[in-house]
Amino acid sequence: MIPKEYYYFDSDSATSELATSIRNYGIAVIQKFVSGQKLNALREESLSILKTSLNMHRLGDCEVVKLSVDKVNNIIDGTSIKEETSTIKDVFNRNLVKDLSADFFGNNPHHMGEIFIHHDKIRNDYTNEWHFDKYAPALKFFIYLTNTTSENGAFNFNIGSHREGHFRQMLQNYQGVFPWDKIPNFIPETEVLNPTSIEAGEGSLIIFNTNGIHRGGVLGKNKERLVIRGHMMYQPTLLDKVIDYLLRSPLNIAKYCVHSSSKINFKHSSENYSVPNQKQDKTFE
Ligand SMILES: [Fe+2]
Repeated sequence: MIPKEYYYFDSDSATSELATSIRNYGIAVIQKFVSGQKLNALREESLSILKTSLNMHRLGDCEVVKLSVDKVNNIIDGTSIKEETSTIKDVFNRNLVKDLSADFFGNNPHHMGEIFIHHDKIRNDYTNEWHFDKYAPALKFFIYLTNTTSENGAFNFNIGSHREGHFRQMLQNYQGVFPWDKIPNFIPETEVLNPTSIEAGEGSLIIFNTNGIHRGGVLGKNKERLVIRGHMMYQPTLLDKVIDYLLRSPLNIAKYCVHSSSKINFKHSSENYSVPNQKQDKTFE
């Protein structure tokens, strides 16, 4: 097991240390990233958006809202006059978020594509099976708005698995299978080497590479979870789209001549494992 101290940090830690942690372990946890009045304001704003948003959807006792594209743009670009007093805007616009994203994506174009607010009771609105996210590289910024332990839905991460998730995806890409289509992304528990419950206090920020293998935690009886998460995503260029088209087309001969042993491995991962109820990717953590 990798010691917690390697990827848990205080709020005054240097950005370079956090970036190194994300590179080495796929994750960094910043304790007390938001605190005091700011945290209260963030909690209130999140709950009020959940109460008033037309986009809020409910699954049992889970309330989830995905902020509209306009709202996300307003938060990130800071162009909207209406959002000036938003704590969500303050938090996701911090230099730390921008600097870590720049480190992660390098010169590649990226943007905060989605922001979700969750208030979960009884159960969580996401899968609690181990998986990697199927879309292209993304960095998720996940803030616990209350103290969160394994009792009330702490996020689970397989420490150091971000490269593994990447190679699992790449191998399937070269076989002609694509993330957007049928890529099997659920991982049997027996293949998860460093399963870790990411417990942290209120106001903690968890940043993780979505190629890493992760899952939602479980809510104990009468427990609740309140979190907000933003997804910094890669923005495909025209060249990416051309390459994507060629890989999907019959011109990609790799999918006809790939070594048979790699196919056998994937049968093991995808077919011998019963995939649970799959929901919309967009609500997955
Ligand atoms: Fe996920």
